[in-house]
Formats: sequence, structure tokens, C-alpha cells
Amino acid sequence: MNEQEIRVLVADDELGIREGCRRILMEEGFEVATASDGIEALEIFDGGAKYSVALVDLMMPRLGGLELIKKLRALDPDLLLIIITAHATIDTAVEGTKQGAYSYIPKPFTPDELLLTIRNGLERQALALEAKRLREERERRLLEVASERSKSGTILKCITDGLLVINLEKLVVLRNNAAARILPKASRQSVPFSLSALEDPKIEALIYEVFQGDPGPRIVSQELEIGKSTFMVNVSPVIEPGGETSGAVAVFRDITELKKLETAKSMFVSMVAHELKSPLAATEGWLNLLLSGLIKDNPKEARHVIERSHLRVKTLRTLVSELLSITAIETGNFQLRRSSVDMAAVAHQAVDAAREKAAAKGISVTFTDCPLETGCTALADGEALGLVFTNLIDNAIKYTPNGGAVTVWIAQNGMYVSVSVEDNGVGIEAEELDKIFEEFYRVKNEYTTDIVGTGLGLSLVKRLVELHQGRIEVESTPGAGSIFTVKVPLS
Ligand SMILES: Nc1ncnc2c1ncn2[C@@H]1O[C@H](COP(=O)(O)OP(=O)(O)OP(=O)(O)O)[C@@H](O)[C@H]1O
Ligand SMILES: [Mg+2]
Repeated sequence: MNEQEIRVLVADDELGIREGCRRILMEEGFEVATASDGIEALEIFDGGAKYSVALVDLMMPRLGGLELIKKLRALDPDLLLIIITAHATIDTAVEGTKQGAYSYIPKPFTPDELLLTIRNGLERQALALEAKRLREERERRLLEVASERSKSGTILKCITDGLLVINLEKLVVLRNNAAARILPKASRQSVPFSLSALEDPKIEALIYEVFQGDPGPRIVSQELEIGKSTFMVNVSPVIEPGGETSGAVAVFRDITELKKLETAKSMFVSMVAHELKSPLAATEGWLNLLLSGLIKDNPKEARHVIERSHLRVKTLRTLVSELLSITAIETGNFQLRRSSVDMAAVAHQAVDAAREKAAAKGISVTFTDCPLETGCTALADGEALGLVFTNLIDNAIKYTPNGGAVTVWIAQNGMYVSVSVEDNGVGIEAEELDKIFEEFYRVKNEYTTDIVGTGLGLSLVKRLVELHQGRIEVESTPGAGSIFTVKVPLS
């Protein structure tokens, strides 16, 4: 610090001392203010200018030196306080330094004595200030580091991917909560622990691969089955600034749901292919027969063949349009064409369309018409509802053994028209009841193994009913039969 900027406050009731100090200090470039007692000194000190040094006489009127020192120290903990005293006894000096004075100068003193004491004091003050600054800086840094640590700690804790950090000694040195959940063997160990404690040779092999390969930013990935789930495990080396590998980070991402979706997708494709293949093969067969000319002289037989082909092509078209409808609803591109629809008529039509199929299995189909004279009319999309009833009746026939019975009836309850399709077929277990409305879901048991289907029917039915602000309900008793009821708001 330049001494021009150093202000010294001299508090002494002796004019000679005050002026003497002023002269000596000003010659040395200090700025000096003087006060003749403690009160005046306090007023000057509080006046706004920053004082670095205060020379304080112990014996002053109004406010004594010791009191003044106490008050000045409280106002500025860094102030350099020096006692000027004629009573240079050890007692007063000790008392003064206890109150926070740096040193004392006995009167009378020479200019050199005064300057030496002040300069030494200033040097010490500068050192103390520097030490304080460093201490504060360190504390601030520590706080920053602590908050950084707690931030990254929180992030590590919260991420849903499992994370292990392994050092070159094959010790797991970090494991987040998700990793402990995914790898039960890891949760029982306290960090650090040996990689082999995971008892999973596949994970170990992946990590060794990273350690043994050429150094560089390589990532080894593999799908692993852990417990009941499937994980994509990515292992990457920890590269130091110098380029050498110091460990590896393994990230475990749960892809079970994705895998399920993938499986469902390929199941869907093979189901669709299967469903398309048999009507196409049949149609091709009928067409070959026509082309062969074998029945060209038998118009009745030829017509029969054409009719069969036509039926197969119609089935194909239904399947394809079901697929398209599902996709359209899924992507929000399906528009209902609503009009006043007689639900009974639509259901009746669906029943009639199914009679042939039912007859082939010896299943009776009974239809009970709308019980109301006012009719069972809903503001609905007749074609869409036709699809709904066709699917439900088709299921009832499909999942009912030969010789069974299917009953379709209409009722009006409250604000709804309801159409129920009842069968006395294989029924559905309670825990399957929610799932059957999921896309591609098919119940797998001894009764259903030989029945083909895409598992799309009910999923489309539910979507169509919900587009009508309606509901679909199901009651079922395994081995005894099921009732599916569709409720659509009355117009
Ligand atoms: N009436 C029923 N009785 C017993 N089980 C049924 C009945 N209706 C549906 N299910 C069960 O619900 C599953 C899903 O039915 P959904 O109609 O969606 O598909 P699907 O009939 O298998 O195939 P799709 O209708 O696309 O040809 C069926 O596989 C079957 O297990
Ligand atoms: Mg079906």
C-alpha cells in the first residue's frame, strides 16, 4: 500500500504529542487526523474516511483510551491500534493489547521509534489481511467444491441408469443407487469392492475387454439379461489427460420395455404374414383351378370357385383395413362419420354375417332385438360399430368350442345403449381381463393354442368404442364363458 493512502488517527489530549505526531507522519507521506479525546476520535473515525492506523493515548478526558480501543476494534477488526502512554507500565500495556492494540509507545518517543512501530505494525497488518484473504478464498473454494460434489452426487444418485466405476485393480470404486438395484450382489458390498464380487462373468468380460484393448476412446456394448430384465450395458474407458486409461465406467440401461415392443412388433409382422398367407394361398389355388381349364365346362362349379375366392379376398380386405384403422386411430387420423344409427340393426347385420362361421362349428347364435319402442338409436359411426360387433361376435365363436351358444342382445340403460355378446366358451382368467385390450395381446393357454389371430381385434374395438365416448366391459368365468358389453351414449 502506498503510504499516501494510509490514514492515521492520533487521539491524545496533549496538543504537543498530537501535533508532533502529525508533523512526523505527514513528512513520511501519511495522512493524519487528530482528536483531543476519545469521543472526538470516534466521531472522526466514523466520518467516512478509512483509517488504517490509530494512535491512542490511554489517559484522555470524556472517553479514556482503553474504552476507545474497544470501540474502535469493534468498528474495524483490521485497524492497527497503537497505544501512546506516559504510564508505560506492563499492566496498562497488557490491558491495552487485550483490548486488541498491537503495541504501545512510551512517551516521550523519538520520530524513529514512532515510525518503526507503525511500519512494523503495518507490515503485520498487511500479512494478517493477506492471511485472512487466503483463508476466506479457501473457504469459498471448499464451499464450491462441496456444492459441486453434492451436485454430482445427487445427479449420480438420481439417474435411472445403473453406473459402476472400476479402477485398474478391478475394484468397483463407485456404484450409484440404480446399480445397487440392478445388481443385487453389488448392493451387499461396500465400496470399494472387487469386480468379481458381482459374480457375473459377462460383465467382467466386458470390462476386461475395455482394459485390454488399444488405449483410446472405445465403447464396448452388449445386451445382457440380468434377473428378469434386459439391459444394454455400455462400458467406456476413463482416459486421463495424458492419454492413459485409469479405469472404466459401466452404464446399465434397462431396455426390457423396448425389447418387449420389439418382440411385439416382430410377432405382429409374423402374425400378419400368417393371416395374409392362408387366404392368399387359397385364392391362388382357386384361380389356378380356373386357369387350368379343368372346370371350364362346368359353369356351376366355376361360379362356386369364384365365390370362394371372393370371400377370401373380402377377409383379406377386412384384415388390412383393421390394420389401417388401428394405425389411423393411433396417429390421430381417424375420423368418425356420425349419424343417427339404429344399433339393433347394426348388431343384427353383424350376427347374420357370422351365421355361416357359427354353423361350421355347430354354434347357435341368438339375437334379441331392441326392447324399446322408441328404438335404440345412437349418434354414431355405423360402419365403425359394425366392426366392433363383428369382432366381438367373431371372438365369441372363435373362443367357444363346437356346439356352444352365442347370444347377442340390446338394452338401454340410463344414457347408454348397450350391446352384449355372450358366449359359453373357454372364458378368460381375471388377471388377463385388462390385458386382452392391449395391442397384439393374446391369451396363451391350452384352449387357445390352436386358434389363430393377431391380437388386434379387441384393441381396435376398445379404441373405436372410446372414440364414441363409450365404454367396453367384460365379465368372464374361465371354462364357463364371457360377456362383452359395449355402451354407447344415446343420441
Ligand atoms: N369371447 C372370448 N372368450 C375367450 N377369450 C377371448 C374372447 N375374446 C377375446 N378373448 C381373448 O382375448 C385375446 C385378444 O382378443 P383379440 O380379439 O384382440 O385378438 P384375437 O382374437 O386373438 O385376434 P384377432 O381378433 O385380431 O384376429 C384373444 O387372443 C383371446 O385369448
Ligand atoms: Mg379377435
